[in-house]
Amino acid sequence: MECRRRWRWFSSACFLILVEFALRETMAVRHRHVGQFTAVGTTHSLLELSAISFIDDVEVGSYNKVHQQIIIKVPWTSKALGVNYITQRRNLLVDHEKHFLWMMHYFAKNDTNHDRNHTGQLLADCEMDNDIKVNSHVHIIWDGEEIYRIDEEVGHWEYLKPEFKKYQHILESPFWTDLRKLYMNQYCVDLMRKIVWYSILRDNVPPEVTVSRRVNREGSIILSCTATGFYPRSILLRWEKDGKLGVWGKETSTGTLPNADSTFYLRVTLELPPEDSGMGYTCVVEHIELKTPAVYPVPEKPTREKPWVLTLGIMLAVILLLSCAGIFTARKKRKRGSTGQLKRSFTSTTSPTPPPL
Ligand SMILES: *[C@@H]1O[C@H](CO)[C@@H](O)[C@H](O)[C@H]1NC(C)=O
Ligand SMILES: *[C@@H]1O[C@H](CO)[C@@H](O)[C@H](O)[C@H]1NC(C)=O
Repeated sequence: MECRRRWRWFSSACFLILVEFALRETMAVRHRHVGQFTAVGTTHSLLELSAISFIDDVEVGSYNKVHQQIIIKVPWTSKALGVNYITQRRNLLVDHEKHFLWMMHYFAKNDTNHDRNHTGQLLADCEMDNDIKVNSHVHIIWDGEEIYRIDEEVGHWEYLKPEFKKYQHILESPFWTDLRKLYMNQYCVDLMRKIVWYSILRDNVPPEVTVSRRVNREGSIILSCTATGFYPRSILLRWEKDGKLGVWGKETSTGTLPNADSTFYLRVTLELPPEDSGMGYTCVVEHIELKTPAVYPVPEKPTREKPWVLTLGIMLAVILLLSCAGIFTARKKRKRGSTGQLKRSFTSTTSPTPPPL
């Protein structure tokens, strides 16, 4: 019995340490923008070109040659960037087609079959720490293998396949070097900066919390607590029984996910062992906009959820998860000038990052 109590105490302590760690992580002020370009073509044609932009692992916008339009995935970012900027980016992407055609022309030249499709990719990334660009890279991938890369701090291209050495001087020519620098600064960094600043200026919003109870097929009670629409991203949701913290069952969490309006969403569930009647539980929420931890009791009767509501919920969660491309490592912007006020983090952006060869 004693041992069991200690184990619980130990698990709770571990849990608190993990939560603390997660909160610290979200307060970091580093942001990363990645632009991915994929071209498919033959030595004499460019059949496909698509571009995707991710900020802190969240897809913010994409472009493809077929529609020649930028599609913004995170709606509020169009406000952050403005119509003119987006139009300018779109024109630039259309213009990039000739750069990728150039790539196809040179790299596929050797292929005796002039109708064979090849894939050329360009990955550009830049990172910002407290508004200062800290590093940036460009990688060129041909038919699935990396052939060139550049670390902008080092400043010259490295070739990774001997047969591509002969084009290295082209990449290093003043024309491509100036273009690369311009794009990396104007688009990779500036675009991210616009979005980060816009998100810092956003007002904080407290979470809307709902707590429900249901019984699964095995007869276990499942409690769930959902917080949505909050900003900034840092939040803490925990279960208490009769006002005490502890580990009473299997806990799961969706992780903090972005909503379309730049606010966030988080759901935690607790599956109780069959012998637990589920009485006396509360979901406790801590967020900067809730001055004190808010306590939400679990309803005593199972909450009825219409099956279609549930299906829709699951679908939304899946879409969100997919669109997050793995873990949403949103970082936080905290300090703002001399006010020292902690405000937010943020999410996303629009169009892709460019550089051509
Ligand atoms: C080459 O790519 C285009 C566009 O993706 C596709 O329609 C075509 O079928 C491909 N051709 C071959 C031979 O794979
Ligand atoms: C093209 O072919 C020549 C001769 O076979 C070879 O030396 C060269 O490395 C090839 N270049 C590329 C880019 O594959």
